[in-house]
Amino acid sequence: MPCSEKNLFPMETEVHQLESYNIPITMILFFDAILRYNIAHAKKWDFTALNLLCTEYLEHCEAQHLFEVILPAMVDLALSAPRLCTMPIPLLKSRMNHSLTLSQEQIACLLANAFFCTFPRRNSRKSEYGNYPEINFYRLFEGTSLRKVEKLKTLLCYFRRVTQHRPKGLVTFTRQALNNPPDWESSQTLLTRLHITCEGRIEDNGYGMLQVDFANRMVGGGVTGHGLVQEEIRFIINPELIVSRLFTEALEHNECLIITGTEQYSEYTGYAESYKWKCSYKDETPRDDWQRRCTEIVAIDALKYRHFLEQFIPEKMTRELNKAYCGFYRHNANVKELSAVATGNWGCGAFGGDTRLKALIQLMAAAEAGRDVAYFTFGDAQLMKEVHKMHSFLTERRVRVGKTRTPNLVFVVFLFAAVPVNASAIPSVTSA
Ligand SMILES: *[C@@H]1O[C@H](CO)[C@@H](O)[C@H](O)[C@H]1NC(C)=O
Repeated sequence: MPCSEKNLFPMETEVHQLESYNIPITMILFFDAILRYNIAHAKKWDFTALNLLCTEYLEHCEAQHLFEVILPAMVDLALSAPRLCTMPIPLLKSRMNHSLTLSQEQIACLLANAFFCTFPRRNSRKSEYGNYPEINFYRLFEGTSLRKVEKLKTLLCYFRRVTQHRPKGLVTFTRQALNNPPDWESSQTLLTRLHITCEGRIEDNGYGMLQVDFANRMVGGGVTGHGLVQEEIRFIINPELIVSRLFTEALEHNECLIITGTEQYSEYTGYAESYKWKCSYKDETPRDDWQRRCTEIVAIDALKYRHFLEQFIPEKMTRELNKAYCGFYRHNANVKELSAVATGNWGCGAFGGDTRLKALIQLMAAAEAGRDVAYFTFGDAQLMKEVHKMHSFLTERRVRVGKTRTPNLVFVVFLFAAVPVNASAIPSVTSA
């Protein structure tokens, strides 16, 4: 923590520097304070994107508001760490089940510190936090990419909101590590129900469901840098997710992170290069008995493939089945009460996954965990038809999860990828 007595970073300077913002702050002072605190990096860090935002993309009065109102309020919020976070924050280390609940106010304070890059020993992979994601925001400020400008707008919308009205709820972060994966070959489970659509989005239409974050093993992926695809977008519209990077060690193959209670603060349009912050969003999701928003998100990281065929290697398919299962399974739940899984093309972008195979793997894992699936193909009508056919084909024939397993699985996938045919004309998969 920045306020720890064990922090060897120039603490006094930092506090003093941050406080001196409270008078008309200028950008130069802001850059200077961050660099003074992070002296080892002063030569490397640059603030082009932030500069660009303030000079080219904000109205003069908006930039003024940012420097006169929002940033000073964020400084106060950052400096309230000793009062708000009275105990060291436990780390969610790998190979253990562990839950951590923080108030939304504590999270806002921690994220304000992340914005000002005050977390010590977190700017280099060589520290004891080498296996943790980056938390300080310095990479968001650098470069001339318009992505950064839009990401900053989205995050500043969050900081404007939480500095105006401190949110009152809680958020729980749970690391789940499963040691005993199902025996997929012998599974007698039948597939559960599927709702598949090429319209809508997980975060808009997955209300009340378990919403999948197509994660990186370092949760949040490139959210504090250049990344701006499914995971990073979710992390900036629900910025409370970002604080998980402070304490969540890289996910192992049999692990996931479940986040309950985050709030959405922004609306957006587009994706990656076309992403644009749209406006502030008022999240009216009801709260549970713990004052958490009833929004459950699970981070599961898919494997990255160098070659297309790699993903059909049995061990790789098993890894993905186990990963998805870990995300969907709840050991203390009554299976009848589990919500559906809202998901889509997990690991199918830069990670090279095949959409049909990934859909089938998730259907199998959800079935084993006793949950239905709502699948969003993000505009891909062809995929919607194919996966729907594949699912009908398997359920009509009451094919068990164990039977769907390799090598039949590969067969099923290619069958539906290649020939959009009448299912009755297809030979029985169970005899394959
Ligand atoms: C975590 O909890 C699950 C479910 O109860 C259990 O199967 C698993 O063995 C636990 N993992 C560890 C590392 O203790």
